[in-house]
Amino acid sequence: MKRLQLDDQTRVLVLTGAGVSAESGVPTFRGMNGLWEGHQVEEVASPEGFAADPELVWRFYSLRRDGASKVQPNPGHHALARLEAALGERFLLVTQNVDGLHARAGSRRMLAIHGELFQSRCEQCAQPFADAHTYFARPLPTCATCGRAIRPHIVWFGEMLDPAHLEQVYRFIDEAGPKLVFLAIGTSGQVYPASGLVDAAHAVGGKTWLIDAAPSEGYAARFDELVIGKSGEVLPPLFFGP
Ligand code: OAD
Repeated sequence: MKRLQLDDQTRVLVLTGAGVSAESGVPTFRGMNGLWEGHQVEEVASPEGFAADPELVWRFYSLRRDGASKVQPNPGHHALARLEAALGERFLLVTQNVDGLHARAGSRRMLAIHGELFQSRCEQCAQPFADAHTYFARPLPTCATCGRAIRPHIVWFGEMLDPAHLEQVYRFIDEAGPKLVFLAIGTSGQVYPASGLVDAAHAVGGKTWLIDAAPSEGYAARFDELVIGKSGEVLPPLFFGP
């Protein structure tokens, strides 16, 4: 069994994807074949989709809120929180997951670059707020200030990531330089810019690892090390030994 070797200079950047939550019972995107109730996921996870049918989009996210509120973080989430506790500011977690499970496991040095399932925002005022409500039918929520639609605080297809998040990630990579260890865990590497982080890590001389139950070939080829396995099973021994 491989073991991650860290010294007191090493900086660890972790990118997680849907695979990390799979063992908690949250379905992965591509595991659903990109379909939900016969709709392309892009149809319900895009600004165009929301403009065309906000009720459908809210039903999709309401089901996901329902689902995510019933599941628990798994040993993979806990191992990452424990690694953060050991490394402090030499650790940064970037997650593409919106389910909130990393935070519930105790991760704090974390950027949810694709948004947060349990937050909403006015499409005009744009300030996110905590929102665990489900909206399965009209009336759909509107902004008390301007009257415009309230939408899930999710980065949809075709939308930009928060530039402040990206800046923080690239600053971490630059400051780490060759002391960087980049771990991508449970992600198929199909969505940019998250999928480009492995190249940014190599560009500063860092080491890169992919940990995935069924790695995508093209993505895996871009890493120095490959660990095939379920994150809940392989992360604890990889970080802390048997
Ligand atoms: P995907 O569904 O594309 O990929 C999930 C990855 O997890 C696959 O490589 C699986 O082999 C792996 N996997 C499954 N179970 C696992 C387990 N128990 N342990 C480890 N790995 C496991 O999900 P993402 O890569 O996260 O964006 O998708 C990236 C983005 O695409 C999502 O954030 C979403 C989607 O479009 C937005 O919603 C903006």
